[in-house]
Amino acid sequence: MNVLLTGGTGYIGSHTSVVLTELGHLVVLYDNLSNSSDLVLHKLAQITGQPIPFVKGDVRDAELLTETLAAYRIDAVIHFAGLKAVGESVEKPADYYANNVQGTISLLQAMRSVQVKTLVFSSSATVYGEPQYLPLDESHPTSATNPYGRSKLHIEEMLNDMAASDPAWRMACLRYFNPVGAHESGLIGENPNGVPNNLMPYIAQVAAGQRAELSVFGDDYPTADGTGVRDYIHVMDLAEGHAAALAFLSVTTGWHAINLGTGKGYSVLDMVQAFENASGQQVPYKIVARRAGDVAACYADPKKASEALNWRATRTLDDMCASTWRFQQSQRLSVKS
Ligand code: NAD
Ligand code: UFG
Repeated sequence: MNVLLTGGTGYIGSHTSVVLTELGHLVVLYDNLSNSSDLVLHKLAQITGQPIPFVKGDVRDAELLTETLAAYRIDAVIHFAGLKAVGESVEKPADYYANNVQGTISLLQAMRSVQVKTLVFSSSATVYGEPQYLPLDESHPTSATNPYGRSKLHIEEMLNDMAASDPAWRMACLRYFNPVGAHESGLIGENPNGVPNNLMPYIAQVAAGQRAELSVFGDDYPTADGTGVRDYIHVMDLAEGHAAALAFLSVTTGWHAINLGTGKGYSVLDMVQAFENASGQQVPYKIVARRAGDVAACYADPKKASEALNWRATRTLDDMCASTWRFQQSQRLSVKS
């Protein structure tokens, strides 16, 4: 299958491109490089043993997208491109609606104009809002508490409307829980600009001595140790979930929302402990106030993915920490050389 990955040079897109290439798909990456670098292309060639075609472009450029879809005879699109920082979305909501919602409208127009009607969309567990029960299954009510989450929800609803208007569409909204970890080679991984917002990259930088200590946001949640609990999923498991979604859509039409998580929750202090074990380094931390907007616990019911996609996450917490550490170490070496 020929597959276009919008946002393909980013964290999840780059790992997915490895899995799809190794399965024999022709992968084309499309990205405006606003939150990634084309240096990843060399790493991807090193891992897969072949160059991966790349088009520098914005998803709001429907003309370039249409040309790209036609030139590479694309059969399906995986739509990763978008902005993803919750705090920034509160400060710059228009940017989030423009990149995420307008970008998706432009992609849908381009796809329709060349009759490509298979789409996998990067959604998020954030569409469940404050959990009313756990684990979160796909029929849990949806809501949004910030512009980022609202953009994901708008897109999911828009895709549902499109699928209802034309039975030829095949759409999967994959609701990711907390992607972490890196490819086992240590060549690609998550490399956020500036101070990391997310827990795992922050812990990795503390373990590497780049930051003095982790701030643990609250230890008075109603969880076993009082710190926040999340469903961390290895990015390679997540990448394989995309391959499974493409296989599912090759035999199914319509709109489908599917959780990609492990079903298991770990606390912030569990993550600190696991990272110390995997890296052999200390991760000093201090307890600070809760972060606004955080929920106590959030984890998936992964049953639908197992039944519909015949997919489940297999990698362990130790795999997540060890691969993050390997990537962190390789970054350091490449900075020095
Ligand atoms: P990322 O920032 O590493 O990748 C996104 C890529 O999209 C980047 O390479 C960026 O340059 C590109 N991009 C952004 N706006 C664009 C535009 N207008 N046109 C073309 N390219 C554009 O993020 P990621 O972690 O790989 O996330 C991928 C997708 O998964 C995003 O849609 C994100 O919202 C979603 N998601 C991520 C997480 C997470 O924790 N990482 C969780 C749930 C959902
Ligand atoms: N945390 C800390 N210190 C930090 C960073 C995080 O204690 O420096 C805690 C948080 O309070 C939370 C847990 O670690 O309890 C995980 O926080 P992350 O920021 O890593 O992840 P979130 O669950 O808050 O959010 C992530 C993405 C969102 C997405 C959501 C659900 O950032 O975009 O997962 O998929 F919506």
